[in-house]
Amino acid sequence: MDLAPEVQTIMARYPTSRSAIMPVLELAQQKYGVVDGDVYQTVAELLDVPEIWVFEVASFYTLFDRTVTGRHHIRLCTNLSCQLRGSDALLIHLQRRLDVESGGTTRDGIFTLSAVECLGACEVAPVLMVDRQYIGDLTVEKLDALLASLADQPAEEMS
Ligand code: FES
Repeated sequence: MDLAPEVQTIMARYPTSRSAIMPVLELAQQKYGVVDGDVYQTVAELLDVPEIWVFEVASFYTLFDRTVTGRHHIRLCTNLSCQLRGSDALLIHLQRRLDVESGGTTRDGIFTLSAVECLGACEVAPVLMVDRQYIGDLTVEKLDALLASLADQPAEEMS
């Protein structure tokens, strides 16, 4: 796991090593697709911080994938603003369409579905995040169109 050159660049932008944990974890996720025990150890060593600090950040934020996911990880917000605008029904729709529960990955490995806490985009609730892109004002029709467009796309190549 060679993150060292990029980590030096990131650390130069932060006042302490601890404050660089999140961007370094994001870098690791982009490079390796998953943030797990090996990553915690590597990041802790590179930043010279206790491994538990790295784990605490990785386990708090649902934006980090701590297990291997499908090609597209759909994170549907089910927090209050989104719930008031119908996210519960959208979650049920996605679970039925994909035949997975929240946290699960489809048998073909294309989609992982997660119900998550507030994504910080309440003004366009209900909202989801997929492949680092936010999609708001969701409807069942919009979800169906999204699933169809993603099914044939590699990760992180959405238009
Ligand atoms: Fe859904 Fe804030 S409650 S984005």
